Amino acid sequence: MKHLISTKQFTDVNKLEEIFQLADRYSQGNVAEALKHKIIACIFYEPSTRTRLSFETAALRLGAEVISTENASLFSSAAKGETLEDTIKIISSYADAIVLRHYQKGSARLASVVSSVPIINAGDGAGEHPTQALLDLYTIKKELGRIEGLKIALVGDLLNGRTIHSLINLLSIYNSNILYLVSPQELKLPASFKRLLDNKKVNFIEETNLTKILNKIDVLYMTRVQKERFKKIEEYEKVKDAYRLDGKAVQQMKKESIIMHPLPRINEISTDVDGDERAAYFRQAKNGLYIRMAILDLLLN
Ligand code: NCD
Repeated sequence: MKHLISTKQFTDVNKLEEIFQLADRYSQGNVAEALKHKIIACIFYEPSTRTRLSFETAALRLGAEVISTENASLFSSAAKGETLEDTIKIISSYADAIVLRHYQKGSARLASVVSSVPIINAGDGAGEHPTQALLDLYTIKKELGRIEGLKIALVGDLLNGRTIHSLINLLSIYNSNILYLVSPQELKLPASFKRLLDNKKVNFIEETNLTKILNKIDVLYMTRVQKERFKKIEEYEKVKDAYRLDGKAVQQMKKESIIMHPLPRINEISTDVDGDERAAYFRQAKNGLYIRMAILDLLLN
């Protein structure tokens, strides 16, 4: 694996297990200076809190140095009209790896064609967000002890949510899970993903009513309606409040279930859920650091 562009690059569970084991090691504080003398570039054309800062922390914890531009549309030569390809060609001659977030689907793949160093896709528009999916899977494993035989509800913006797209690819590798795809009609999972699921071991059920399935599921994965992907604000307004989980609704869930969210949340989960032990989203975000340490280590060494 030279670049990490899509979770479609993973076809068996062994590689995933290798990443999880490395993440486990790093979470226990076993930090060798695996990236000493390396330079990691973080190039972000879209807003980010967790992804950029956890990647930068991961690099620093492994002994690397970081160069970054957190608002590349404005602060890099993109503002003067430079193409992404030219920018990446240059940065790949400075740094040993590039973590890239860009607003266009397919941008990470484009970058990987011209880059002489590993490209890590940190989100390409409504396309994918592979490292988020890896940390999501790692969180399910850590919290529930397995990634098989589970009922998993993926809720919200399944059309535009790149974390969902990447996670679905990974879940389709595992056996005997049931996925509930819960969204308003307007935000249903693209047909290409459904075709992919049809050919895999995973079963899926499309649903619009979250309340109906709350007491059945082991994992509730909530997502934000991706406002920045809508052409018209009225269309966003129509669906933005489609699903809201509060403390009362959580009472219907199984005791041993978990609630996840890639964050940021807007109003999909009210703060009165945060104190419930099933609320795993802050633990999930922390797991991102260890997964990103593992990814950097594997790609660079
Ligand atoms: C997600 C993203 O950027 O796709 N955020 C993240 O990286 N944790 C989810 C989102 O923005 O809704």
